[in-house]
Amino acid sequence: MKSRQLLVILILSFAALSFYLVSAKKNQTRSYSSLLKELPSFFSDSLYLYPANPYNEAKAELGRYLFYDRRLSFNKTKSCASCHDQKFSFTDGYRRSIGAAGDLLQRNSSPLINIVYKKYLTAADSSLHYPEQQINNPMFHNTPIELGWKGHEEEILDRIKNDQFYRSQFKEVFADADKSVTIKNIQYCIASFIKSIFSYNSRFDQFFYQKQDVLSASEKKGMQLFFSAKLNCSSCHGGNNFDKSILQDDNGKPLIYFNTGLYNIGGKGDYPEPDKGLYQQTGNRSDMGRYRIPTLRNLAFTAPYYHDGSAVTLEEVISNYENGGRLTARGLLNGNGSANPYKSNLIKGFLLTGEEEKDLISFLLALSDSSVLVNKKYSNPFRYDETK
Ligand code: HEC
Ligand code: HEC
Repeated sequence: MKSRQLLVILILSFAALSFYLVSAKKNQTRSYSSLLKELPSFFSDSLYLYPANPYNEAKAELGRYLFYDRRLSFNKTKSCASCHDQKFSFTDGYRRSIGAAGDLLQRNSSPLINIVYKKYLTAADSSLHYPEQQINNPMFHNTPIELGWKGHEEEILDRIKNDQFYRSQFKEVFADADKSVTIKNIQYCIASFIKSIFSYNSRFDQFFYQKQDVLSASEKKGMQLFFSAKLNCSSCHGGNNFDKSILQDDNGKPLIYFNTGLYNIGGKGDYPEPDKGLYQQTGNRSDMGRYRIPTLRNLAFTAPYYHDGSAVTLEEVISNYENGGRLTARGLLNGNGSANPYKSNLIKGFLLTGEEEKDLISFLLALSDSSVLVNKKYSNPFRYDETK
C-alpha cells in the first residue's frame, strides 16, 4: 500500500475515533429531560428532583457500580442491590429485609422503580422526598444496622478512594466541582442511578396507553372490578403508578397514609411492635397503622406484600379487602383488623365470586413489566457477582 493511502486511512480512522469519543462523551452528560423523552408520553407527571444534584448519565452510571458494590457495607457483605435485587423488581423476596450484621429490619423492601414520581419515600416517613435524603437510612441507621456506615465512614471511603477505577471516575464525573470521593458524592451518584430506573412496559400499559388489544377477557373483567365504585381500589391506588390517592382530609389536603385494617391488637387498634406506621413519627393515635399506598406495578415479582411482608400471596391481600380488614393475622393475638378504629372508611368489605377474585388478581398481575428484570442498563456492571 502506498504511504499516502496509508496516511489517508490513518487520518480517517483518527477522525472516526474522535467523533466516536466525543459523541460517547456527549451521551454521558445527557440531562434528565432527555432521559424522560425516552419514556412514553403517558408517563408525564410531577417529578420530584433534588435541586442540588442535577442529573447526568455519567453520574448515574457511576452510581450503578456503587449500588452493586458490597464494599459499601461495613463488613463487605451487602450492597444496596442485596435488598433491592433487579430480579425481584428491586426488592428482595424476604418478608422483612436482613441487614449487613444479620439483623431483621423493620420493613419489607420497596421496589425502586419510577421513584422520581414519588413525593413521599418509605412506608411511613413524611419528611423524606428524595432518594438523596432517604439514602442516609440504609447507610447510617444502626438500630438495626443496614449497611453499617456509622463509625466506619473513613474505612469505607478509603476502600473506594483506593480503587483506581473509582478514583478516575469520580474525577471525571465531578469534574467541575468537588472531584473527590466523598459521602455526598457517593450518595448523589447512587441516587442518580435510582432515578434512572423506569418500568412502564406492562401489558396493561400496552393495552391502556398504546391501544393494543393484549389483555385477556379475565384481565379486562378484573380491570372493571378494580376501577368499580363497589371495590374502590382506584380511589387509593390511582395515577400512573397506582399509588396516588384522590382522597382529601377535612381541610382539603391530599391524604397520603392509610390504615387498611391489618391488625387490631387488644381491640384498641394497635399494630404490632416495632412497626406502627405514621404514628411512630407523629405520636397521634389516629396515625396508628397508617402507611403510604404502595405501587401495584410489578406485583408478580415483589411478594411478599405489605409494609411487613405479612401477606405471601395476592389471594390473601384480596381476601383482606373483601373482609374489610384482616381477620386472622398470624394468630388471634393480632386481633380482628376489620374492627380497627383507625381503619380508612373506604375499607368496608365487599363480596366477590371465586371467578371475580381470579379476574381481579389476573388484572393486578397484568401490571407487571418483566423487561425491567433484564434491562442491561440497570444490571450488575461487575464481571463477578457483587450482589450475593
Ligand atoms: C438491608 C436491606 C437494605 C439495604 C442494604 C438497602 N435497602 Fe433500601 N430499603 C430497604 C427497606 C426494607 C426499605 C423500606 C423502608 C421503609 O419503608 O421504611 C427500603 C427503601 C428504600 C427506598 C425508598 C423507596 C420508596 O419507594 O419509598 C430507597 C430509595 C432505597 N431503599 C434505596 C436504597 C439504597 C440507595 C441503598 C444502598 C445505599 C439501599 N436502599 C440499601 C432495605 C434495604
Ligand atoms: C383506603 C385506601 C386503599 C384502598 C381503597 C385500597 N388500598 Fe390497597 N393498599 C393501601 C395501603 C395503604 C396499602 C399498604 C398497607 C400496608 O402495608 O400496611 C395497600 C396495599 C395493597 C397491596 C399490597 C402491595 C404491596 O406491594 O405490598 C395490594 C396488592 C393492594 N393494596 C391492592 C388493592 C386492591 C386490589 C384494592 C381494591 C380492592 C385496594 N388495594 C384498595 C391502600 C388502599
